[in-house]
Amino acid sequence: MGVQMGRERRVGEQRSAGRRRAGATSCLALAWLAASAVAGSAQIPEEFTNLRYFPQDITRDDLIDAMRTMSLDLGVRCQTCHVGSVDGTSFEGVDFASDESPRKVAAREMLSMVDRINAAVAELPDRGRARDLVSCKTCHAGAIRPQTLSQFLAARLESDGPESLEQAYADARRQLEWGRFDFREWELNLWGEELAGAGRVDEAIAVFELNRGHHPESASILTSLGALYERADRSEDAIATYERLLELQPQNVQVRARLDALRGREALPGA
Ligand code: HEC
Ligand code: HEC
Repeated sequence: MGVQMGRERRVGEQRSAGRRRAGATSCLALAWLAASAVAGSAQIPEEFTNLRYFPQDITRDDLIDAMRTMSLDLGVRCQTCHVGSVDGTSFEGVDFASDESPRKVAAREMLSMVDRINAAVAELPDRGRARDLVSCKTCHAGAIRPQTLSQFLAARLESDGPESLEQAYADARRQLEWGRFDFREWELNLWGEELAGAGRVDEAIAVFELNRGHHPESASILTSLGALYERADRSEDAIATYERLLELQPQNVQVRARLDALRGREALPGA
């Protein structure tokens, strides 16, 4: 009983949080919906027959509000979760009650999951009541699949190889405005270290070279890159990298020692 009431209360909170956000983005929301939903809103049913998460007595306005917020948070159209559109864009033929789309089923799971997360957050000591509630956007940030920059690039690395990384990075940059990705250097440095640890030296080099292009003054990147070039027997590249690093950190004795060792090796005939 208590649990049930708690759940009801949080559902209400989530809905009003949705309304606040909808207010902040109303222009965008209107623009978003102009093409499809508003034009077809007459085709959104008045009665709902398959609500398992939202309360049965939810008003039509509140339900559509929640749907619109979810669509914006994931950067998708209604038809991504609701099947049957005759042409893929209009609401004609859409069966909103159908659970045929795995994405709709996933979204329903996610709605409950978000409530569980927020309930757990509210349990934190000295918290009383969670102030900043988690929403779909906290993780999804405008994408159907939440991914870090490394995960986004790793998918491209696996499918299209290291040559595709520069383009993939540019694709990610274009989504800067959504606040989707972390472009600070450590996001990719850690991934590069992971690849190096797995013995994928050439790919690790590709990741650090990519990252160096965007953080040319980073000593951490140059240090990792120098070591990787050495591992790949690319002495000339290692020397150039350490020389650059020494310009940035003239007092770095370790780098000076590496340089001397490499130059010594280079100088040795037949080495
Ligand atoms: C990310 C997936 C997703 C998106 C996008 C989405 N919906 Fe939904 N929709 C759901 C889920 C899940 C339910 C079921 C909720 C429940 O079980 O209480 C639902 C239920 C509905 C229902 C009630 C159907 C019934 O009879 O039970 C309507 C109407 C609806 N959505 C309209 C929309 C509209 C309009 C949009 C676009 C503005 C939209 N939805 C976008 C997932 C989505
Ligand atoms: C705590 C983080 C988090 C929150 C909050 C969250 N999601 Fe997700 N969601 C995920 C993850 C992780 C996946 C799985 C991604 C994958 O499979 O690669 C996912 C997957 C999904 C999918 C399936 C995507 C696909 O490719 O088929 C849908 C739909 C979805 N979420 C909807 C929602 C909705 C709607 C909300 C808000 C009610 C929400 N999510 C809140 C983390 C989250």
